[in-house]
Amino acid sequence: STAEGNSGATAFKVESPNVRYTDDSIESSYSYDTTIVSRDASSGQLKAKPTQVQYQFRTKTHVGRVGLMMVGWGGNNGSTLTASILANKKGISWETRKGTQTANYFGSLMMASTVKLGVDEQLKDVYVPFNQVVPMVHPNDVVIGGWDINSANIGDAMRRAQVLPVDLQRRVYDDLAQLKPLPSVYYPDFIAANQEERADNLIGGTKQEQLDHLRQDIRNFKQANGLDRVIIMWTANTERYADLLAGVNDTADNLLQAIADGHEEVSPSTLFAVASILEGAPFVNGSPQNTLVPGVIDLAERERSFVGGDDFKSGQTKIKSVLAEFLVNAGIKPLAITSYNHLGNNDGHNLSAPAQFRSKEISKSSVVDDMVGANNLLYKKGEHPDHTIVIKYVPSVGDSKRALDEYVSEIFMGGLNTISIYNTCEDSLLASPLIIDLFMMTELMTRVSYRTANDADWMPFHSVLSILSYMLKAPVVPPNTPVVNALAKQRMAMENILRAFVGLAPNNEMLLEHKAF
Ligand code: NAI
Repeated sequence: STAEGNSGATAFKVESPNVRYTDDSIESSYSYDTTIVSRDASSGQLKAKPTQVQYQFRTKTHVGRVGLMMVGWGGNNGSTLTASILANKKGISWETRKGTQTANYFGSLMMASTVKLGVDEQLKDVYVPFNQVVPMVHPNDVVIGGWDINSANIGDAMRRAQVLPVDLQRRVYDDLAQLKPLPSVYYPDFIAANQEERADNLIGGTKQEQLDHLRQDIRNFKQANGLDRVIIMWTANTERYADLLAGVNDTADNLLQAIADGHEEVSPSTLFAVASILEGAPFVNGSPQNTLVPGVIDLAERERSFVGGDDFKSGQTKIKSVLAEFLVNAGIKPLAITSYNHLGNNDGHNLSAPAQFRSKEISKSSVVDDMVGANNLLYKKGEHPDHTIVIKYVPSVGDSKRALDEYVSEIFMGGLNTISIYNTCEDSLLASPLIIDLFMMTELMTRVSYRTANDADWMPFHSVLSILSYMLKAPVVPPNTPVVNALAKQRMAMENILRAFVGLAPNNEMLLEHKAF
């Protein structure tokens, strides 16, 4: 028997003149409070002016049937996620050395963490599940499919990945063996040469024909499963960076023309992004390469379709985006952050090639920029801690990635503080729940619209979903807007934006109700 998830469930109703529940939506009127800072031209003095902007939000409450198509479905992440969702859906338990283990969604912010709703009459905190602040899709209700350049069925892919415990593998194998990845697009130049023997499940033809083929795949999947919405997720190999070329991938029209011309700098991942946008399907890039070239973003804006990226923020970088923020906000000055990784899965094998390593190095590098930039007492303009990243392929450790980090910081009176971290974990068990969070949040954004006092019409949010930043190492944001890497800020943004959708003030930790005599 399979358990449906509780898609669309919310934990509470808001009682407020600013919130309206209709048959098919929740509408809120919301005052967004900010502080506008200016500098007096003659005295140079800063002036801060509290400002309010009135927003209205409308969230459609009917979730509908949602599909997730993963590119790289037969990889460690794709197969682990598929097996784990199936195990949750079927309520599967399995035997381990320590006893019986049941399927769960630990590691998913949406499925396994809570948000403070408010305080009760005794002033005690009341928490609700993150996914029940506004109606969201439940992973058990999602139809999964996708593409892989390797033809292995998902059961065999799960075995090859060597991630999940054997007894669990046994219980889901027969179902997963029925699932076969669609053929995909392979340009050998974009991933490591050592991946070539995997490539036995390919779409031939010209770039334009391949684009049309992928679009047809998305339409077929939608139709065959009776879906209202499909979300596309790149969890395939890390590619090298594509060169940014004027006239090729700089605008939507140039990019479409470059595909028609079969230009060699259009990568497989960019082709998938374009196919998704043209089908109105949100596309999220879970790998570090620059899939979302300017032409892709231009096209997404034009088509009012959503894109997000780059690179799942799972282990080392997640900790870095916590620790660097802690240090800098404590008035401690990181001088050097040195990160070593070794891993033995296929991702590690692919990253052992220089061009693919370089993509990863770039996405791991920018993660402390905003924290450093926020503190001009510690860092002069342009000053930056040393930041070094090393990744090595060590086959015998398999998917159990090791990350060693050293943070050397300057403290009081020229003293030094060294923090050393050793992190070991199944890589794919960290990354798979992020895929869940990404598709849940992305799906929600397809149902939300807003307007300000100046807007006549309801509008979707910007095509580039910066709200996904928490799950991503190198968040892509709308042109000319700030990138936030600090993990606590990223979570706060998500939590408070969801609260705004139901007309609730942002959470803060003032606890004034507990500070009175
Ligand atoms: P994997 O190597 O096990 O899986 C990738 C899959 O993509 C393979 O099955 C491969 O055959 C397939 N593939 C390659 N090119 C393709 C194409 N053009 N079309 C369709 N399929 C294609 O890798 P894993 O561990 O699942 O990771 C996937 C991606 O996620 C990698 O780029 C990795 O860097 C990224 N990532 C993983 C994290 C983690 O596992 N903790 C964290 C952050 C990012």
